[in-house]
Amino acid sequence: VYDSFLKCFSERTKSPQTEIAKNVFAQSNPSYSSVLRAYIRNARFNTSSTPKPTIIVTPRSDSHVSAAVLCSKPLNFVLKIRSGGHDYDGLSYISDKPFFILDLSNIRDVTVDIADQSAWISAGATLGEVYYRIWEKSKIHGFPAGVCPTVGVGGHLSGGGYGNMLRKFGLSVDNLIDAKIVDVNGQILDRKSMGEDLFWAISGGGGGSFGVVLGYKVKLVPVPQTVTVFRVEQYMDSGAVDMVTKWQSVGPKTDPNLFMRMLIQPVTRNKVKTVRASVVALYLGKANDVVSLLAKEFPELGLKKGDCKEMTWIQSALWWNNDVNATKTDPKVFLDRNLDSSSFGKRKSDYVATEIPRDGIESLFKKMIELGKIGLVFNPYGGKMAEVAEDATPFRHRNKLFKIQYSVNWKESSPEIEKGFLNQAKVLHSFMTGFVSKNPRGAYLNYRDVDIGVNDHGVDSYKEGEVYGRMYFGQNFDRLVKIKTAVDPQNFFRNEQSIPTLPISK
Ligand code: FDA
Repeated sequence: VYDSFLKCFSERTKSPQTEIAKNVFAQSNPSYSSVLRAYIRNARFNTSSTPKPTIIVTPRSDSHVSAAVLCSKPLNFVLKIRSGGHDYDGLSYISDKPFFILDLSNIRDVTVDIADQSAWISAGATLGEVYYRIWEKSKIHGFPAGVCPTVGVGGHLSGGGYGNMLRKFGLSVDNLIDAKIVDVNGQILDRKSMGEDLFWAISGGGGGSFGVVLGYKVKLVPVPQTVTVFRVEQYMDSGAVDMVTKWQSVGPKTDPNLFMRMLIQPVTRNKVKTVRASVVALYLGKANDVVSLLAKEFPELGLKKGDCKEMTWIQSALWWNNDVNATKTDPKVFLDRNLDSSSFGKRKSDYVATEIPRDGIESLFKKMIELGKIGLVFNPYGGKMAEVAEDATPFRHRNKLFKIQYSVNWKESSPEIEKGFLNQAKVLHSFMTGFVSKNPRGAYLNYRDVDIGVNDHGVDSYKEGEVYGRMYFGQNFDRLVKIKTAVDPQNFFRNEQSIPTLPISK
């Protein structure tokens, strides 16, 4: 397999085999393991029993990507596409079928054009690199994307992408101008040549279903010279229930310049098991303004000027990445990829359309104490999110109050330990059924969760795809299926949760 792939790859790229072999790793290659592990971001899928790819290809140019697609096709392997490797269930680098990995970490240019208020960001760039390259050129521009700097552009933007400016500027995909993709025929297409349907599909309909995304042209957004961050914590026995209850009516409705994330975590405090609720916020403005705004709208928070820190936007991105000394850190750390560093983890998601009553919050806290470890993250919507039509992009969850992320990480693992933590996630998700969106229940594609259904791509592929597809995309699933059927009728680009083609009528 390796020899025939290499021969084809060398012919198509017009490069000598000895040269091109530096970017094609068979399992016998001494660098294979480190290349594979470099972008495994969930230690659950970094074990000796995790299925391994037959070949890893690390293209260095667009034409390499095109050749890799064309040379994989006849070999009948599943092609997994990986940019930053942050898929929560590892779908970019594992498979139970024989597979290759197309790893885009070398396709990472970021070109910022301040005069045009835009940037071309390559799929293999990390969000930290994007933020840093913007900051190098301008202190008053930013881009609305995720808060974790090592997340890859390829998976993040193709799946929607949100961060702490979503109430002001929407999702990352609400700020796209153009894109480049390699299609199933190896053609390199831009927005014009791929057409509006395919461009729409890769603006939130998920990477890995339609082609290989090479990069996106994005609109930069204006950010003030000074922004404010704060973190306020309360415990279950001292105001947290009221704070979380009230947050539901403030977080999604307040000034769009304000994003207040709510973290809810079972903890032990003074030897007593309790729940801590923390509001972590970004305000696109000065501290005095947000303090007086919240004194009126959210007195239960008890925000004081002393809780607030004023800084630049890039420093706020560092602070949100848990850097308490953000104002002293050189933003260059965003260029550090922190290779092969991760704990074990599981995520799930839900959407809330009507406020959860106070006794519901109380019962939730009790359930979390009982389970012991799993935490929740509430991300408020409203603002710009509610202004975008549900079919403007494949991302359908526009008119919700907030999104819930179920989150559990652990450091040491064994099959038993893992089973226990995965079970906590399932039990809490099931406990929340009465409080969250239904028919179908919602889920966020970028919070990949294979518990909601997987696709074996056999005769029931459409039916299987409809289960998770409707949860992620609602009615937009139908348009995604039509586009998929038109651009990749043989279903070459597939993974356990990709968009299926239309069933062939008998
Ligand atoms: P990865 O390479 O694993 O790809 C994810 C999926 O996209 C896979 O199915 C893959 O095949 C496909 N894909 C990747 N590159 C592609 C390409 N070039 N062309 C076609 N398909 C491609 N999300 C969010 O919205 N806001 C946030 O703040 C965060 N924060 C966050 C923190 C941490 C620590 C993690 C682990 C994850 C997040 N996420 C997130 C979720 C994140 O947005 C999601 O996992 C993205 O898909 C990750 O993109 P990567 O390229 O890193 O992943």
